Amino acid sequence: EALERAPSQHLGPEYKSPDERPQATVSKSVTQANVHILPQTPQLIALLTMIRDKNTNRGDFIFYSNRINRLLVEEALNHLPVLPHTITTPLGRTYNGVKFEGKICGVSIMRAGEAMEQALRECCRSVRIGKILIQRDEETSKPRLFYDKLPNDVSERWVLLLDPMLATGGSALMAVDVLRSKGVPEEHILFLNLIASPEGAANFAQKYPKLRIVTAFVDQGLDEKNYIVPGLGDFGDRFYTL
Ligand code: PRP
Ligand code: URA
Repeated sequence: EALERAPSQHLGPEYKSPDERPQATVSKSVTQANVHILPQTPQLIALLTMIRDKNTNRGDFIFYSNRINRLLVEEALNHLPVLPHTITTPLGRTYNGVKFEGKICGVSIMRAGEAMEQALRECCRSVRIGKILIQRDEETSKPRLFYDKLPNDVSERWVLLLDPMLATGGSALMAVDVLRSKGVPEEHILFLNLIASPEGAANFAQKYPKLRIVTAFVDQGLDEKNYIVPGLGDFGDRFYTL
């Protein structure tokens, strides 16, 4: 089945003429309103280019994927409600601002999702983090649940669910089932993801229309082994062991 052409966009600062602004492949768009794709900025595309490159070594892969993870966490936090908060500055003037009030936690889908914990900790000091160990069967691509350990009061928290790769969506759906079985409402779950396949994103977003997905990129598709293409390969291997 022919893959639909990926969209392309001129990237770079506006003060450059169009012919000085290179064309790069950017994220596909999706119709589901609960899928939020990061703005396809020159920086984001440069970072993604680094981590997709098969010649990028492990140290660089970790560094550049961390930078994207920071962008994902910052964007996801913008989806949490805020309350009015007026303060006084050292000049004795008031400033009408806001503050976040509510409890959050991270939940990583092991192993690859743990790679996103650092970015979450950098933004939310001493954040609680739960773990769900799900592994995809290499032959069938079907996920298997091995273990979960979540904060006792997870049902009262906003949950930032972490997994960099959304391929068939099987692992993410299974993780959401675990969270729901512990009483977390669908609308309190934010799924943070680096690269999604169009079919995975669409299935997941349709099954859970009130859950929000924040992703950096919706890629072209899946290959015959259910790897995301063009993708970046096996995220967990590249981050932890290669
Ligand atoms: C990868 C990835 C996701 C899952 C995506 O994990 O990190 O969890 O596959 O595929 P899916 O959407 O088709 O379920 P894997 O099971 O390979 O384990 P790892 O994190 O230890 O690499
Ligand atoms: N898991 C990965 O790490 N990469 C893929 O492309 C699909 C699943």
